[in-house]
Amino acid sequence: MNGFHRLSDRDFKELKEFIETGLGIRISAGKKTMLESRLHSRIKKLNFKNFREYLNFVFEFDTDGRERFKMIDAITTNKTGFFRESYQFRFLLETVLPALIAEYGTGIKRPLNAWSAGCSTGEETYSLAISLSEFAEKHRGFKFSILGTDISVGALNGAIRAVYPEERISIIPSNIQKKYFLKSKNRTDRLVRIKPSLRSKIFFKVLNLNDQNYNIRGKMDVVFFRNVIIYFRRSKQTEILSRICNSLTDGGYLFMGHAEALINMKLPLHRAGLNVYRYFPAKRNRV
Ligand SMILES: C[S@@+](CC[C@H](N)C(=O)[O-])C[C@H]1O[C@@H](n2cnc3c(N)ncnc32)[C@H](O)[C@@H]1O
Repeated sequence: MNGFHRLSDRDFKELKEFIETGLGIRISAGKKTMLESRLHSRIKKLNFKNFREYLNFVFEFDTDGRERFKMIDAITTNKTGFFRESYQFRFLLETVLPALIAEYGTGIKRPLNAWSAGCSTGEETYSLAISLSEFAEKHRGFKFSILGTDISVGALNGAIRAVYPEERISIIPSNIQKKYFLKSKNRTDRLVRIKPSLRSKIFFKVLNLNDQNYNIRGKMDVVFFRNVIIYFRRSKQTEILSRICNSLTDGGYLFMGHAEALINMKLPLHRAGLNVYRYFPAKRNRV
């Protein structure tokens, strides 16, 4: 490709080390071309001659960390969607919430806390908010709060803005669309935005799951941690999952992605549904 920048072995090693130790994301030798193409536009935009100059800037001179965040945005994969793996949202409504109410009065005696960890541009978090709001309508006194976190500032800004192309919500029944989405006045742009009443139920913040301390207030009753762990090395996966377990209430539920069955992990998690686990720290028969 004309003007396309290549990573030298030394630069690839430096970048790989930063991604693996800083973000915990595994980078195999085969990912070199992917990194080259994802960072190409940053180098072009900032007018650097090559990767050496760019990495030198990011690691030595980017004092406020702004470009580092842009680099992380370009490196991370933010693919997501509304009601992705929709059977899990049904499981939440039909099994998880009734069990938490029956066993602990969660959501009634105190608000239920839900966390979308690795929430990308917010589609998963708003799907959770819609599900919980629908449940609350049918169960008097049910209250909840939701936290959405990601390492990518660009993705989080999208989540906070909450504006999406109309075709992204085609999977949602039209009565639910009307209830929770506003259509843009200019109909040619075919955009929708989450209504403020639903947006107000969610707090978004930057959180690196590779950090030793997550600094979140209180424990979570439900955690959606889907399609994130696949990017991490096995040793990191167990470490991160242990920290997520520590953020869960006893009997709390952890939702994983469809390709993320937790096998032989020696974690205090117990199978509760399809890629859904329950945290019981004292019980045997762990996954
Ligand atoms: C493929 S998306 C999954 C989005 C959503 N959970 C879903 O299933 O639709 C993976 C997300 O994990 C985030 N991520 C990657 N590494 C992370 C880290 N170290 N800490 C927090 N988030 C991270 C990425 O920025 C990205 O938004």
